[in-house]
Amino acid sequence: MSIKNIRLEVMQLLEKNVSAYVDQYLIPVEKIWQPSDFLPNSESDTFNEEIKELREISKDLPYDFWVAMVGDMITEEALPTYENWLMEVEGVDNLERNGWAKWVRQWTGEENRHGDLLNKYLYLSGRVNMREIEMTTQHLINDGFDIGTGRDPYKNFVYTSFQELATYVSHNRVSQLAKSYGDSKLAKMCKMVAGDEMRHHLAYSEFVNQIFKIDPSEMMLAFQYMMKAKIVMPAHFLRESGQKISSAFEHFSNSAQRIGVYTANDYVDIMQKLIDKWEIDKIGSLTDEAEKARDYLMKLPARMAKISERLIIPQESFQFKWVEPARL
Ligand SMILES: [Fe+2]
Ligand SMILES: [Fe+2]
Repeated sequence: MSIKNIRLEVMQLLEKNVSAYVDQYLIPVEKIWQPSDFLPNSESDTFNEEIKELREISKDLPYDFWVAMVGDMITEEALPTYENWLMEVEGVDNLERNGWAKWVRQWTGEENRHGDLLNKYLYLSGRVNMREIEMTTQHLINDGFDIGTGRDPYKNFVYTSFQELATYVSHNRVSQLAKSYGDSKLAKMCKMVAGDEMRHHLAYSEFVNQIFKIDPSEMMLAFQYMMKAKIVMPAHFLRESGQKISSAFEHFSNSAQRIGVYTANDYVDIMQKLIDKWEIDKIGSLTDEAEKARDYLMKLPARMAKISERLIIPQESFQFKWVEPARL
C-alpha cells in the first residue's frame, strides 16, 4: 500500500474523534467572545468619548509596535488562503462535509474574529494608513502562500502546531507591550486573541500526538522534513502597494524582532516545545530512517540557537506606507 493511502486511513481513523476534538478545543458561538465585546459600542451615547480615549492612549505606542501589529493583523486577514489550503489536505472533504471539514470550518469561524477585532481597533486608533493596509491585505490574499506541505496531513499538522504557537507568542507579546505603554484595553484584546491561538495549538499538536501513536516513523519523517525546510511564516509573500511580491516581509519581521514581538529565539523555543510535547526522545518502533530523523531533530534546537545568536537585525526601522512616522 502506498504511503498516501496509509495517511488517508489514519485521517479516517482520527476523523471518528473529530466531534470530541471540536467540543474539547473549540468554543460554541454563543459562548465565545466577539470583537464587539472589547471595542467601543457604536450604539452607545458614550461612543465618541470612548474613541477619544482610545486614540489618546494609542499615541504613546512606538513605530515598530504599529508595524508588528499591522503585520499580525494582515496575517490574520488572509484567512481565506488558510481555509482553502486546509480544505485541500488529504482526508479533509468539504463536499462530503466530513468531520475534518467541520473542524476546518469551525476553526475558520474562530480565526475570523481575530482579523475583525484588530482591524477595527487599528481603524479607530487613527495611527495607521488603513487604505495602504487594505491594499497589502488584498495583495496577500491574491498572492496566497507556499509553505511546502503539499496535501500531506502530517506535514500540515506540524505546520499548524508550530504556527498557532507562533501566533500565540506574537499576540501575547503585543498584549504585554500595550500594557507596558498603559493601553490596558488593547492589551486585553490581544490577550483574548492569544488565548484562542493557544487552544488551536493544543488541538493541532494533539492531532500530531495521535498520529505518532499510529504511524510513528512517517510522522517522525514529516516532522523532520518540516524542520529541515524551516517553517515559513504565512505572510511570507507580504508586499506594500506597488511593490514586488514578498518585498515587505523581511522589514516587517525586523520590526517584530526589534520590538521583541517575535524573534529568532522564539522560533527555536517553539521547536523545542514541540519536541518536548511529542516526547520525541521516547518514541519507539521506528524504522532506521526515522531513528536518524529523530536524532537529527533532537540536536536541531541547539544548532539553530547558535545560528540565531549570530543574526544581526538592522537598528533602523524601514519606513512603511502603512504607518507614517509623521503621524506618531
Ligand atoms: Fe488567529
Ligand atoms: Fe491561529
